[in-house]
Amino acid sequence: LALATKTSTITSMAKEEENAGNVKRQLAKLFDESLKATVPNEPDVEPLVAACTAKFGDYQCNNAMGLWSKIKGKGTEFRGPPAVGQAIMKNLPPSEMIESCSVAGPGFVNVVLAKNWIAKTIQRMLIDGIETWAPRFCVKKAVVDFSSPNIAKEMHVGHLRSTIIGDSLARMLEFSNVEVLRRNHVGDWGTQVDLVSENMYPLCGSFSCLLISSLYIDFVGTPTFISLHHSVQLKDFKHILQFGMLIEHLFEKFPNFEDVNETAIGDLQAFYKASKQRFDSDPAFKEIAQKAVVRLQGGEPKYHQAWAQICEISRREFDKVYQRLRVQLEEKGESFYNPYIPGVIEALTKLGLVEESQGARVIFIEGVNIPLIVVKSDGGFNYASTDLTALWYRLNEEKAEWIIYVTDVGQQQHFDMVFSAAKRAGWLPSDGSTYPKASHVGFGLVLGEDGKRFRTRSSEVVRLVDLLDEAKSRSKMALIERGKAEEWTEEELEQTAEAVGYGAVKYADLKNNRLTNYTFNFDQMLNDKTGSLVLDHADERALGLHLLQFSEVVEEACSNLLPNVLCEYLYNLSEYFTKFYSNCQVVGSAEETSRLLLCEATATVMRKCFYLLGIVPVYKI
Ligand code: ARG
Repeated sequence: LALATKTSTITSMAKEEENAGNVKRQLAKLFDESLKATVPNEPDVEPLVAACTAKFGDYQCNNAMGLWSKIKGKGTEFRGPPAVGQAIMKNLPPSEMIESCSVAGPGFVNVVLAKNWIAKTIQRMLIDGIETWAPRFCVKKAVVDFSSPNIAKEMHVGHLRSTIIGDSLARMLEFSNVEVLRRNHVGDWGTQVDLVSENMYPLCGSFSCLLISSLYIDFVGTPTFISLHHSVQLKDFKHILQFGMLIEHLFEKFPNFEDVNETAIGDLQAFYKASKQRFDSDPAFKEIAQKAVVRLQGGEPKYHQAWAQICEISRREFDKVYQRLRVQLEEKGESFYNPYIPGVIEALTKLGLVEESQGARVIFIEGVNIPLIVVKSDGGFNYASTDLTALWYRLNEEKAEWIIYVTDVGQQQHFDMVFSAAKRAGWLPSDGSTYPKASHVGFGLVLGEDGKRFRTRSSEVVRLVDLLDEAKSRSKMALIERGKAEEWTEEELEQTAEAVGYGAVKYADLKNNRLTNYTFNFDQMLNDKTGSLVLDHADERALGLHLLQFSEVVEEACSNLLPNVLCEYLYNLSEYFTKFYSNCQVVGSAEETSRLLLCEATATVMRKCFYLLGIVPVYKI
């Protein structure tokens, strides 16, 4: 294995080349010229441009103070930061971007952008497409390692978070013209048994262990089991037993089990429950199940095949979730890296990184008191061995320059240690800000409304499929309540219910800082009436009052048989709305929710007016 990593040092995040959408960078270019003219003896000063926080302008250049502390006492002609700011302003090259400039406080240079330039830039985007506004990274290829559930286990809400956050990050990178390898690092090797608490996964440990056995058969060709593999401990025997139970139940229910498909088995959880019941109530079955374990361990094809079938079913379960969420992933599970592990460990050993500690082989990381175990005392590999190898593979074989891992924050230390080891090995530059780079994207726990880990009432792991079903059915109910069943076709209703239901789940996850724990709450997530209406501005009040008069106006028009009364009302409504809309910022304002509600109320009333007048409203003109 060639382990030499080409550590190309790419210093700046993005290409300097013209970047139509990035105002900050375009301004930075101008300020760069100005800074070079202002302080010719300091050619390395990076322009510091930021959007204005105060109302003095649209953007500001913050270089004056820092520059002053660099040049004072060196015989400069300037008398302090404001003077430096003035000079920076004066030396700005003329540009159609800029309407006016001013200097404020200790030398901040404020820029007001030219209205015509803004308009022209937007118009150009409309012609050339939004892609011209895509950010540009000097990174060409990235790996996003996300979702990554464990085979033959249910995906849980933590995996849902990883899936949603990872997919969004991948989409943003792809939009930025980065080739993204969307990697599903599924736990098909079973080493998670020692990483996560078993009770989180009611039917899990068992499958993992068996997976180990089978993979061992697949990769090594020897049907040896427990004694050979590291992550299987004695306590795991009971899980393996359960696997025998599942297999025998499969045979019992489906004598032609080769033809069994996922629909026949139904969901794994129910299947598991049924076989467990059988196991507990029938001693004869129990005995067969125990023997099945031995036969599986012995590599009997029929048993191995049954096991593989169960794995395949679990894989299809995952796919259902991905399809619903419209998430694309390519599976390269833990087992994929197995053949590379020994070579990588050997290379790390040659580099002098690997030490002996209490029978295990470990890498010590500066500042961390526990070492990273890369070969367990029984000679087996573990989660860390796999991740080190996967990182090596991604850097050297796949030539990715940015490798991003999306998991809960509980795995932060694991990744910190893996990355540190990679830096010690010289695979990654020790300066974490240059590429190639590895990043751990951690996220908080998903909590139930009781503030504890999110579970079902019977304290089982919440199945993602059920959760998505519920999101969809709740949003569908809300649509039906709003009379959409009569207005729309069944297909429209379904599509909208899915878009709104799944959209709400994604939005609820993505809107908060990902590191905070997030409380799973359907009502809040699907609530289309969050926030309340406040009518503080005079134009809001006037519009609100007018809306309120709808009923009496219709009554008047009706009882006096005078449609013109409603026409006049509608005309005034549009005037009140226009006035409100021009004087009150809606989107992005502090009153956004309230004002959106006011817009929605206007639309509702207006639509009804059109309807009552027999006029078909148009939504595009
Ligand atoms: N399978 C792991 C879990 O369910 C997540 C894997 C994350 N990716 C990785 N390269 N370790 O917790």
